[in-house]
Amino acid sequence: MNVRRPRGTNDILPEDVGKWQFVEAKIRELCHRYGYHEIRTPVFESTELFERGIGEATDIVEKEMYTFTDRSDRSLTLRPEGTAGVVRAFIENKLHAQPLPAKLYYIGPMFRYEKPQAGRYRQFSQFGIEAIGSMDPFLDVEMITLPIELYRACGLDGFQVQVNSIGCPECRGEYRAVLRQHLGERVHQFCENCQRRLDRNPLRVLDCKNPKCQELVEEVPPITDYLCGECADHFRQVLQYLDQLSVTYELNPKLVRGFDYYTKTVFEITVPTLGAQNAIGGGGRYDGLVEEIGGIALPAVGYAVGMERLLLALDQQENTSYPQRHPEAYIAHFGGMTKTAAVKIVTELRKQGLWVELDYLDRSLKAQMKSADRFNCTWVIIVGEAELEHNTVKVRNMATGKEYDVALSQIKEFLTGAREE
Ligand code: HAM
Repeated sequence: MNVRRPRGTNDILPEDVGKWQFVEAKIRELCHRYGYHEIRTPVFESTELFERGIGEATDIVEKEMYTFTDRSDRSLTLRPEGTAGVVRAFIENKLHAQPLPAKLYYIGPMFRYEKPQAGRYRQFSQFGIEAIGSMDPFLDVEMITLPIELYRACGLDGFQVQVNSIGCPECRGEYRAVLRQHLGERVHQFCENCQRRLDRNPLRVLDCKNPKCQELVEEVPPITDYLCGECADHFRQVLQYLDQLSVTYELNPKLVRGFDYYTKTVFEITVPTLGAQNAIGGGGRYDGLVEEIGGIALPAVGYAVGMERLLLALDQQENTSYPQRHPEAYIAHFGGMTKTAAVKIVTELRKQGLWVELDYLDRSLKAQMKSADRFNCTWVIIVGEAELEHNTVKVRNMATGKEYDVALSQIKEFLTGAREE
């Protein structure tokens, strides 16, 4: 049998897990300071949640969902994104009864049946933040500044922030008519996807990646010219806050994003050197979603970071030094009663909070010293019969070759004292 991992999935090996943990630690520290609380929702949900929440005419719902029926004939879907599930949990658990806005975050796997390539996978991880229950334009800005702070804290440079407003359903209605009028005559020149979109979801043609489509929409007036008073005012305040906080951004009137739930502000952060899949995160306001999936009418805004793409960008830039962990000591023994003593010492030191390793393969002392070297240990504790008779061990500093006689009861004190010197 030669079973391989499914297309578009990744094994994250021990040598890389440290990088993930480094970024996750930064995320948790940052969320703590910004007052976001972790929420963990199921990896699969009722299919209906995504159909209603994300929108039936979106690429994700039309062709990218992992949908299956379970043994009781329920239609379930592996979550393609985190927002709909968080909103469902907010409603189901009546979180609106707690002080608003609810500020929530999550880290976890998402699933989309996309064509795999560098930076685009079928299982990938997102870190997402969602703030439900406030219209404050400053919250939109927090959704941009928090990820910026994360990217910087991880050591990332050269990312670009793009911002747009796609208005509310009312102003968008007017803009759709303008779009159809502008593009209608040239409908046959668009790619097949866009021809369908022009009918069902015309805004999406604006950010089609096909060069011919991009050329065709070049002359289209920006959506921000058609915002209603309230949406225009909201957007003005968002930009004002960004300016006040000296956030560098680019206005991109073609940025519309791939979910139907967005209203007003949308944003994306890109790293140009990543190539075709250059968005390391994106988000926006979704003022209608809570009501759309059965809750009371509450505005909301959120953002999600693509973890793999962030890590790819960090690898590319090589600015980040990830913390390297190695055992504090390696315990070498000669078998027999020295092994019994070594087992006791290792257990005791681990209880006292140290990472210590020993030989599990009955290797020679020489091979054990090699192992200690490979582990990059500074200290090797050599358990010999003669020393045991005096309740001591030899402790060797691998860097200097110097050896010390240390009482069995003093090993931890010796190692930690030596570390601090
Ligand atoms: P999204 O733009 O679809 O937004 O995904 C956010 C980020 O996830 C992307 O910018 C990208 O970095 C990463 N990503 C998306 N698809 C893939 C993939 N196939 N492989 C690898 N990485 C990927 C959302 O999902 C919204 N829920 C964000 C949001 C939160 N809006 C409001 N609240």
